[in-house]
Amino acid sequence: MVSFSALLSSVSLFVACLAPSVLADNPINPSFAYGAAKVRGVNLGGWLVLEPWITPSLFDNTGNSAIVDEWTFGQLQDRNTALAVLQNHWNTWITEQDFIDIANAGLNHVRIPIGYWAFEVGPGEPYISGQLPYLQKAIGWARNHGIKVIVDLHGAPGSQNGFDNSGHRISFPQWHSNSTNVARTDAIIKQIASLFINDQDVVSVIAPLNEPAGYDGQDVLSVVRQYWYDSYGNIRFPYGTSQQSNTLVLLHDAFQPLSYWQGFQTPPNRQGVAMDTHIYQMFSQDEVSRTNQQHIQAACAMGSSLSSFDLWVIVGEWTPAATDCAKYLNGRGVGARYDGSYSGSTRVGSCTGLTGSASSFSSSYKTFLRQYWEAQTITYEKAAGWIQWTWKAENADDWSYQAGLKNGWIPQDPTQRQYPTICG
Ligand SMILES: *[C@@H]1O[C@H](CO)[C@@H](O)[C@H](O)[C@H]1NC(C)=O
Repeated sequence: MVSFSALLSSVSLFVACLAPSVLADNPINPSFAYGAAKVRGVNLGGWLVLEPWITPSLFDNTGNSAIVDEWTFGQLQDRNTALAVLQNHWNTWITEQDFIDIANAGLNHVRIPIGYWAFEVGPGEPYISGQLPYLQKAIGWARNHGIKVIVDLHGAPGSQNGFDNSGHRISFPQWHSNSTNVARTDAIIKQIASLFINDQDVVSVIAPLNEPAGYDGQDVLSVVRQYWYDSYGNIRFPYGTSQQSNTLVLLHDAFQPLSYWQGFQTPPNRQGVAMDTHIYQMFSQDEVSRTNQQHIQAACAMGSSLSSFDLWVIVGEWTPAATDCAKYLNGRGVGARYDGSYSGSTRVGSCTGLTGSASSFSSSYKTFLRQYWEAQTITYEKAAGWIQWTWKAENADDWSYQAGLKNGWIPQDPTQRQYPTICG
């Protein structure tokens, strides 16, 4: 406790110029000064939860076009084959070298998506488990290289959104409508909190559920609100009721405007809660039709709502990509709005030279990626910080932090700006 309070007083000097009423009420994790220091990080997407667009080869190699997510990956092919492919992927997609590269890129956080099926698989569920030892290994690598880890439950029983990245691509997600599913998820969050109870120096944040489908209406939102209350207890009180942990609870906004959550789990009644919002500008016809300049302006315009919210806001997913051109981004076998190959969309232009390998990118496109990247990081640092989606992708360099570093649209030092006044 001595070192904790010493740290607090040195931190409070550092944050004296920031909104003192909010920060003073929030306990600061001893391992990272949330709210004062900026979160700068990457998601390790497509590793412990498969996504067809991040690793299209794993899906194409099955020779079965009905395999569109991790559920069907386990269901519709020989299980020993599937297991061998998954194990090879877990062993190779992310290694300690990635943590070295991430640290060398000046980043301080990784967010690691994991599915419920890493913890328990129910009867009749075709998921293959075995991911947990890799998460544990990653925490050791993060510790070795000074990186904080956000453990992010990305797929819940029944699916919380029906996206392939929840594990199960379905039209009617069933997490919220089935109390058994919610109870199973509560138990998994308890399990996660107790698993990492001695790793709070690294696992500084637990995100109890990625992207629940709040756009489906009140039925979903009321279940989500109760689940966030239960998660608060499960994550903040893993020792029992007498002692709070230092682990931040990172809630997702469930696709609602931040104003919807105004006053939810705020200090002084609740402490150690932050809000995660995801900012993409390509999943509607309107957004994908924007000019480069409009994309940049739209990003800059978010600064005031992000910075004035009553909890720390971390933009936990965003990208310098401005189109939905990446192969399988909208799902395996689904086209892109941008080139009009998505059902019901209106063509904006050709996808050629906008995704795939950076060797096909023009210098003016790379300049735009740099400007858009800077506009977003400048804006998101008005809030608590940012975590780009995603560290690497097989064949979508517009989304890849690694490719951005290699090809120059992401600076080796993320605080270095070529366009410091891009947001005016
Ligand atoms: C609810 O989900 C569980 C699995 O978590 C399943 O066994 C059960 O059949 C579901 N109940 C309904 C009514 O769909």
